[in-house]
Amino acid sequence: MKIVETKKEVREQVREWRRQGLSVGLVPTMGYLHEGHKSLIDRAVAENDRVVVSDFVNPMQFGPKEDLASYPRDLERDAALCEAAGANLIFHPQPEEMYHDDFSSFVDMSTLTGGLCGKSRPIHFRGVCTVVSKLFHIVTPDRAYFGQKDAQQLAVIRHMAEDLDFGIEIVGCPIIREEDGLAKSSRNTYLNRQERQAALVLSRSLAAGKEQIEKGERDAGKVVQAVTEMIREEPLAKIDYVEIVDWKTLEPVKEIDRPVLAAVAVYIGKTRLIDNFIYGG
Ligand code: PAF
Repeated sequence: MKIVETKKEVREQVREWRRQGLSVGLVPTMGYLHEGHKSLIDRAVAENDRVVVSDFVNPMQFGPKEDLASYPRDLERDAALCEAAGANLIFHPQPEEMYHDDFSSFVDMSTLTGGLCGKSRPIHFRGVCTVVSKLFHIVTPDRAYFGQKDAQQLAVIRHMAEDLDFGIEIVGCPIIREEDGLAKSSRNTYLNRQERQAALVLSRSLAAGKEQIEKGERDAGKVVQAVTEMIREEPLAKIDYVEIVDWKTLEPVKEIDRPVLAAVAVYIGKTRLIDNFIYGG
């Protein structure tokens, strides 16, 4: 497995693979890889002849008060995980390689990005769409793999790939959880012991909401209220949002009469965590 830092090296490698008639999968990541990322790499390895993992903490998707500087990084550990999973190339660019001094073109979306995480992170999806578009142009994969934990991101990228005719299959992969239910996330490393315990309220409250729906509750407001009340019982938790939205448009629904995304974003101490489930989709 190779680790490269330049777009030129990625392009040369992919060109060589294409000459050999090989298919290419891309797993975009910000590094500090965990079992969730590994599941994306495993799937990419199973479905493609060659797999590129991008490992880049993208400054453009962090707001001024967010955790860009403290975001965990460990290339050596990432490389070991990628190699063991059977990836062929890690693209690990420096920010200057991705954004030259007078960089001024952005990919912005007028739907899907205003609600949910977009409300409290107004520039986030512009940064995600811009960097993912660049990665798509650099790697030109057949397929690209994204986790459902970032469900809004998955919906946004699917829409963008279609709008802009990338011709790349966007593959969504299930959420990977710790044994006690906490969704795997690089940000879980920020949690101290007490917070780690408190963080279970995300998966627990969502499971309770899902059970209500499965038992026949169709009033989205009632399910949102039940999930909200459960989270409020946890003293270390501060709710950013609890919402049930149409899984296609991401617009809030009153009645659960179509595929929906139930999603929460909750601060546990200073750490903002997200989790969700899709019902009927
Ligand atoms: O999900 C992530 O880790 C990032 O948002 C992504 C897709 C790699 C873009 O920087």
